Amino acid sequence: MKDILVEKLREDRDLSDSQLKALIESDEHDAALMKAADEVRRAHYGDRVYLRGLIEISSYCKNNCLYCGLRAGNRNAERYRLSEEQILSCCEEGYELGYRTFVLQGGEDPYFTDEMICEIVRQIKKRYPDCAVTLSLGEKPRESYEKYHEAGADRYLLRHETADAEHYAKLHPGDMSLENRKRCLYDLKEIGFQVGSGFMVGSPYQTTENLIADLRFLQRLQPDMIGIGPYITHKDTPFKDQQGGSLELSLRMLSILRLMFPYALLPSTTALGTIDPMGRELGLKAGGNVVMPNLSPTDVREKYAIYDNKICTGEESAQCRRCLEMRIESAGYRAVTDRGDVKRG
Ligand code: 5AD
Ligand code: SF4
Ligand code: FES
Repeated sequence: MKDILVEKLREDRDLSDSQLKALIESDEHDAALMKAADEVRRAHYGDRVYLRGLIEISSYCKNNCLYCGLRAGNRNAERYRLSEEQILSCCEEGYELGYRTFVLQGGEDPYFTDEMICEIVRQIKKRYPDCAVTLSLGEKPRESYEKYHEAGADRYLLRHETADAEHYAKLHPGDMSLENRKRCLYDLKEIGFQVGSGFMVGSPYQTTENLIADLRFLQRLQPDMIGIGPYITHKDTPFKDQQGGSLELSLRMLSILRLMFPYALLPSTTALGTIDPMGRELGLKAGGNVVMPNLSPTDVREKYAIYDNKICTGEESAQCRRCLEMRIESAGYRAVTDRGDVKRG
């Protein structure tokens, strides 16, 4: 028997708010939802899973997001920064492993001036002209984004976190606003970046209505990539007693996103792999088509602790590439390392 709601979502790439609510709040559509998401993913991307080499360049952050272990107020956080030389040697290693996208991610660290970021981007593009450079360095003035793009950066990841201003205010201190976050995202699009946004699933105080608002916002923004993952508690944050997001709801939202945004790059995130040993495989089966193995030097990985019990931070992490390839295959897909620019249609 066909699931009418799921088929309507597949067909129209859209549903009414009340239909979305029904889908989000019940587990009875899950099997049909995941099956449809996998079919749509295969129609657009076959069995390909794109690998992006992630380099965590700084664990310093001037912000104080209430959910994040790297928040400025966390005196227990261990801080580090990679030098330009270290970043370039991560890229060298990644390039030899076959990676053709490098993602430079970090907290909002004023130590890295625009000039430094641009120089790093120029160096990577000069040495590896066939590679895409993705930045994920938070909220900046439009002029900074323009400089990064001018220097050769191709893509920018900035999750909107939640599209409801009241909810946003519960997750962030008063000096941050949803308005500025949106301004950043629209600036990035206008400048010509391929843009990634996204949100946490099961973040404190999140309602179904908030999740629907997230989907509506993404329909307006039309990002190339959408990163979602479960909220995971960090012990040294004001949210230390809050519950984490569930695997089930995270997978359900991933499948809904695949049906609403068939063309999108949807990562199966480390956060999914952290809350369940098979989380990343399940994320791929639910519609995900990107994984981002960590290329950061192994001795700093533990320090990039945005949430508790993050995987791939210990000894085993030198083997992430092999480990992930095996996991991708075991889930029924194939790892590819090419740039994998988004194809809309
Ligand atoms: N749990 C899950 N995801 C988190 N992020 C930050 N803190 C947490 C947490 N405690 C996510 C945010 C941010 C991305 C880099 O990591 O969505 O955008
Ligand atoms: Fe900083 Fe990002 Fe963590 Fe917020 S989520 S505290 S901006 S690293
Ligand atoms: Fe990092 Fe398996 S992916 S150890």
